[in-house]
Amino acid sequence: MCGIMGYVGPQEAAPIIMDGLKRLEYRGYDSAGVAVSNGTIDVRKAEGKIAGLVALLDEKPLEGTVGIGHTRWATHGVPSDLNAHPHTDPTGDFVVVHNGIIENFQTLREELEAGGSVFTSQTDTEILAHLVAQEYDGDLAAAVRKAVERAEGAYALVVMTKREPRKIVAVRKISPLVVGLGDGETFLASDIPAVLHHTRDFLIIEDDELVTITEEGATVETITGDPVDRDVLHVDWDPGQAEKGGFEHFMLKEIHEQPTVITETLGGRLDEDGTAWLEDVEFDDDFARGLDTVWITACGTAYHAGLVGREIFQRVLRLPTIVEYAHEMRYSDPMVKEGDLTIAISQSGETADTLAAARLAAERGTRMLALTNVVGSTLSRYADDVLYTRAGPEISVASTKAYIAMLIGQYLLALRLGVARGSIDRDRATEISHGLNHLPAQVEEILENDEAIVEAAQAIVDADDIYFLGRGLDYAVAMEGSLKLKEISYLHSEAMPAGELKHGTLALITEGVPVIVVVTQRATYDKTISAVQEVKARGGKVVAVAYDTDTEIEKFAEIVLRIPETDDLLAPVNAVVPLQLLAYHVARLRGHDIDQPRNLAKSVTVE
Ligand code: F6R
Repeated sequence: MCGIMGYVGPQEAAPIIMDGLKRLEYRGYDSAGVAVSNGTIDVRKAEGKIAGLVALLDEKPLEGTVGIGHTRWATHGVPSDLNAHPHTDPTGDFVVVHNGIIENFQTLREELEAGGSVFTSQTDTEILAHLVAQEYDGDLAAAVRKAVERAEGAYALVVMTKREPRKIVAVRKISPLVVGLGDGETFLASDIPAVLHHTRDFLIIEDDELVTITEEGATVETITGDPVDRDVLHVDWDPGQAEKGGFEHFMLKEIHEQPTVITETLGGRLDEDGTAWLEDVEFDDDFARGLDTVWITACGTAYHAGLVGREIFQRVLRLPTIVEYAHEMRYSDPMVKEGDLTIAISQSGETADTLAAARLAAERGTRMLALTNVVGSTLSRYADDVLYTRAGPEISVASTKAYIAMLIGQYLLALRLGVARGSIDRDRATEISHGLNHLPAQVEEILENDEAIVEAAQAIVDADDIYFLGRGLDYAVAMEGSLKLKEISYLHSEAMPAGELKHGTLALITEGVPVIVVVTQRATYDKTISAVQEVKARGGKVVAVAYDTDTEIEKFAEIVLRIPETDDLLAPVNAVVPLQLLAYHVARLRGHDIDQPRNLAKSVTVE
């Protein structure tokens, strides 16, 4: 989730680019850089906040009226000056910035190295600079087209060369890219707010399109070279709205980013037959085969992701899997040992309790794997293995897209371990792989049909207490749905396994009390429905999250939140989305500060 800027026009490019990068700051980043073309191409880049780059530019200014810039959120290679963008080819004539992930980067890098290329960074982006330079034959757009033909994955790639000094060429697949049309000047950016104070007229570049900008304007083509006639979008958002991509809140924006997050987290890591390639997971098949117990430790939403993980690992690996709150595990003298795998899950990679539990597990000889969203975070630094979720920076305190990415990470890990152990066969691994690849489109479908969710929000908005039920994987999702509702709506809610209801909590179910039941798991469907009937018999108001193919559920539930049918193992990814939206709509109806709920912080770095 990097930020991109480009400028061609009469003004000095560097200040405009720097200003745009600052406006993209909310996307989060770990390093930044800028390149300006002025007969030669000069590059400045610095690890850390934009202030570092500003200081560098004060010391060594850049002059020129064509330029590109970038804020980086690391995916390949640690945050550092060298890994910061822009990247150049060996001659320095071509320079690129890139947002996204090149999935076949390793193969391309090896091919280029075999041909004598020498790389100065660990990034996937640098190979793109080499590829464009190799393909160049007098036409930058043609060279970019040929270069991306060889690259698989997601990208917004922006390229500049001193050989055609008054133009910038960019191409998009999945990662966002917009063109801002000024008067005698043209801008490129990954997001509208970066240039909103220069112009309100935009061209939105779609997937597999290439755009060439000059001071006269922009030409859009398909990646195969057919002309595209794109309507100009006139934007009248205020700057605050623009940062949120037109959404009212970051939380809603982040919920809507989930299809892309799933695609990016899977990107280049999964073969059709279920073989998982996890770049920083270094254990070998012998370790997987000898594994005794899987431990998962985390807090809050990350812990709830771990509850889903427990079911996944037990089913796929047929191994005992223990999930512990990190703040409990660290004081519980856990029987974790050599030959075990401990997975510490943390969006930030900085949660104090999770770090402490992970450290304790590592001291006791277990192999420690960090499942985290932040490259170079403390957790990632002392783990034996790291699996980065690729959710990009999450701004809303209530975590949504990071949770989904944690689930995807655990499916990938389960496939990596399960195939190595032989605890699932090829056919099953293939089925899971297909199911995972369908999830982005399915989540998109849920996001497009939220009428029933709004209706459910209206039905529960004035409740005093709300209960969430489910069994197995559905219970894990119910836990997360309940937490989301609590933290932003401030309603009291509680989740429990459906079978537990009659052991006490049923006493609280009276006329009109909302009970939200997640009922996707076919093996326990009837059992969950019996709990629902107990609720109905006491006048409870039942809202169900169920497959769109479930024809029975309407007999029991007043409102049904439909999700596309999947393999039951994968259902949590779809099932959590209506619950995130439900929490969002309830909080909105209650007029709360959704992105910054009271008393809560995004990162809990104290014990
Ligand atoms: C809830 C939420 C928190 C975090 C928890 C752990 O929406 O975001 O419960 O999940 O504080 O944070 P990380 O994942 O950064 O360790």
